[in-house]
Amino acid sequence: MAHLAVNGGPAVRAHPFPSWPVFTDEDADAVRNVVLGGKWGSTAEGCVQTFERQFADYQDARHGICVTNGTTALVLALQAIDIRPGDEVIVPAYTFIATANAVLMCNAVPVFVDIDPDTYNLDPALIEKSINNRTRAIMPVHFAGLPADLDRISSIAIKHNLSVIEDSAQAHGARWKNSGVGAQGNLGTFSFQSSKNLNAGEGGIVLTNDDELAATTRSLVNCGRAQDGLGYSHYRLAGNHRLSELQGALLQSQFKRLEAQTKLRSENAEYLSTQLSRIDGIDPTIVPAAATRHARHLYVFRYKSDSFGGSSKSHFVEALKAEGIPASPGYSIPLYRQPVFTDHRFGAYGSAEASEIDYGALNLVETERACQDEAIWFGQSVLLGTKEDMDDIILAIAKIRERRSELSS
Ligand SMILES: Cc1ncc(COP(=O)(O)O)c(C=O)c1O
Repeated sequence: MAHLAVNGGPAVRAHPFPSWPVFTDEDADAVRNVVLGGKWGSTAEGCVQTFERQFADYQDARHGICVTNGTTALVLALQAIDIRPGDEVIVPAYTFIATANAVLMCNAVPVFVDIDPDTYNLDPALIEKSINNRTRAIMPVHFAGLPADLDRISSIAIKHNLSVIEDSAQAHGARWKNSGVGAQGNLGTFSFQSSKNLNAGEGGIVLTNDDELAATTRSLVNCGRAQDGLGYSHYRLAGNHRLSELQGALLQSQFKRLEAQTKLRSENAEYLSTQLSRIDGIDPTIVPAAATRHARHLYVFRYKSDSFGGSSKSHFVEALKAEGIPASPGYSIPLYRQPVFTDHRFGAYGSAEASEIDYGALNLVETERACQDEAIWFGQSVLLGTKEDMDDIILAIAKIRERRSELSS
């Protein structure tokens, strides 16, 4: 086999993987029809409200309320449960910043709990140690589209009288025990930002099975009006977080492809996992039996440097990229080590309690290991490729393993 491409040898692959988003004239027509129809706002029945029902149905929720993005969806879900300054919310530190920021933006306190190294989701065995009389909610993230352990998290929540808000930003179509995620906690949130498996450039949705929480959330999205209210009566402090009909039309049109795309991603991911787990030092994350559908927003595996002559994760990622495989090192530091936390840069937000926490002193072992040493991702559009595309990934990793002595340490 040739030298590694990172050292000047020929790359395994020279052509790109599928690009994202996928769109056709049908998507353009959907948006065009809204433009020509002249009804661009979503306060009355139209694309947004139809999509809300479609997506809620898809995830097995009674109610869906669209919002401007996934971060806002989390903030409004927390407001819907009436989170108060100083309340504590349990979150993972191996996630996008929005999960923890949403808590701060409610003047509440993010309490970071470590992840399970097999799934990279919140480790339920560690949650109870962080519960005290200020804890109000648990906010699991279905990282990469893999459902967190909703059974164990729900039973802890019931035992301690806590709410569960599922951050499902990465988990469109994911199912736990054959039931949609985002509809199993008190509330669930999704993002439709441009990288997501279902997107309209920006956007989000809050799901719930609780009629009262749904009415509160709808009011929170719509300037504090009563549900279906249009006039100038405002019952609570709230902003305008409504989605436009242009985004609603695009979401409806993109939604038609989600199921077929999810099936293709699943097939390719399963093939990759079978083949990659045969390579010493490559451990795909584990999909528990109860996680009956992984949404595969990311394909994630654990890199064991010992099997690659001690070469660091970043050197391995660079070598893989040089072979033409778009690998990502993912989140490179735990959230609690971001300047927003270490320096308490909370601006107008952040309770006194949060400002007293020395977040920089935290050290969650598995989160640290995932960030620094082990977690490597491929984006979801890679999984929209052919079997031959997956074979190139496998070939490139096998080549690097075989020529590991060429890697820098
Ligand atoms: C886990 C998680 N939560 C929340 C968000 C926030 O979503 P948005 O970017 O739509 O605000 C994201 C988006 O990347 C995410 O990955």
